[in-house]
Amino acid sequence: MNCADVGDLRLLARRRLPRFLFEYVDGGAFAEQTMRRNVDDLQGIAVRQRILKDVSDINLGTELLGDAAAMPVALAPVGLAGLYARRGEVQAARAAEAAGAPFCMSTVAGCSMEEVRGAVQRPFWFQLYMIRDRGFMHALLDRAEAAGITNLFLTVDLPVSSTRYRDIRTGLAGGRGALASIGRMLEVMRHPAWAFDVGVMGRPHALGNVAGVMPPGTGLFGFFEWVARNYDPSVTWNDIAWLRERWRGRLVLKGVLEPEDAQAAVAAGADGIVVSNHGGRQLDGAPSTISALPAVADAVAGRATVLMDSGIRSGLDVLRALALGADGVMVGRAWAYALAAQGGPGVTRMLEILRQEMKVAMALLGETDVRKLGREILVNRGTLP
Ligand SMILES: Cc1cc2nc3c(=O)[nH]c(=O)nc-3n(C[C@H](O)[C@H](O)[C@H](O)COP(=O)(O)O)c2cc1C
Repeated sequence: MNCADVGDLRLLARRRLPRFLFEYVDGGAFAEQTMRRNVDDLQGIAVRQRILKDVSDINLGTELLGDAAAMPVALAPVGLAGLYARRGEVQAARAAEAAGAPFCMSTVAGCSMEEVRGAVQRPFWFQLYMIRDRGFMHALLDRAEAAGITNLFLTVDLPVSSTRYRDIRTGLAGGRGALASIGRMLEVMRHPAWAFDVGVMGRPHALGNVAGVMPPGTGLFGFFEWVARNYDPSVTWNDIAWLRERWRGRLVLKGVLEPEDAQAAVAAGADGIVVSNHGGRQLDGAPSTISALPAVADAVAGRATVLMDSGIRSGLDVLRALALGADGVMVGRAWAYALAAQGGPGVTRMLEILRQEMKVAMALLGETDVRKLGREILVNRGTLP
């Protein structure tokens, strides 16, 4: 199938992945209301068609956290990407670099940061989960520094992992019984192309960044229990002060939805924030990020970089977010689907789709520079329906 949009990549991913993995990527928390709102609210924002404004030369390039970006789009940290395609993070980071899009690596990536660093020319961004063992955190930060990483994203919307019903139903979370393992084995057998690509060619299967604190043989199905035991739910602003002191590079807090938290982040020395609800995977019932963005951007008032994620499925969505105050966006599922569908070339295709969609939309909006977009491109200045 020729993939025309991100939705097509999702359909291919659904065919290619065992069900327990596809549902892990595709699903959200509880009733998935926030997950749906993210997409629906973005798509509900009408834009203004303008005419006769020389749009022969359109600039999509910008700068995000000190890095040049060919378009205002970065790849969000997505855990376990090494299971979507062989050496998934290496493939995605290479595709992102070639397209001029920053790549943010997850703490719980399949590959290690050193492996990915060896596969690309320039340092990427790194996302951190605070793990209870602070000795290990120090060592991880040392490794990040040694890998030349300058932009560190601390995820703050996951003091505990939320409940995702789909993962319970597929047996990914908590399915330890014999029946559950037989079910999973059958799923793997039904997807031989994936089993060969990831299971055989994608070895080894350890989580490269955290292998040092994970008991050997934890495996995919022990992973979620490990998370529950090892992620630190006691983190407060005091730990941000500790990290700010410890980390010399740029620090970004990912998972901010409230203006007062954004202000506190700036006061704590954050260089940026990501307005995010984790793609609707954490607090179900929280507002969509696009509806939270304007007030948060106002509260930051240019003192830090404002990125937004959750729900971005098209180039037009990117422009909607920029118009409402984001400096750039991150995409999560879009690249996870693409990687699962077609490996690195899928990620290249996804980024090309977004670029083309942005270019066409810019021309029809009568705009030529993404760095100058504001609410004037939105009907009623972007008031949500
Ligand atoms: C399968 C999956 C795994 C994720 N893993 C992480 C992670 O390890 N660290 C993190 O900060 N966010 C993680 N996220 C959240 C993304 O970084 C991002 O906030 C979210 O996917 C954005 O929403 P979108 O998928 O609608 O673009 C994950 C998201 C998905 C879909």
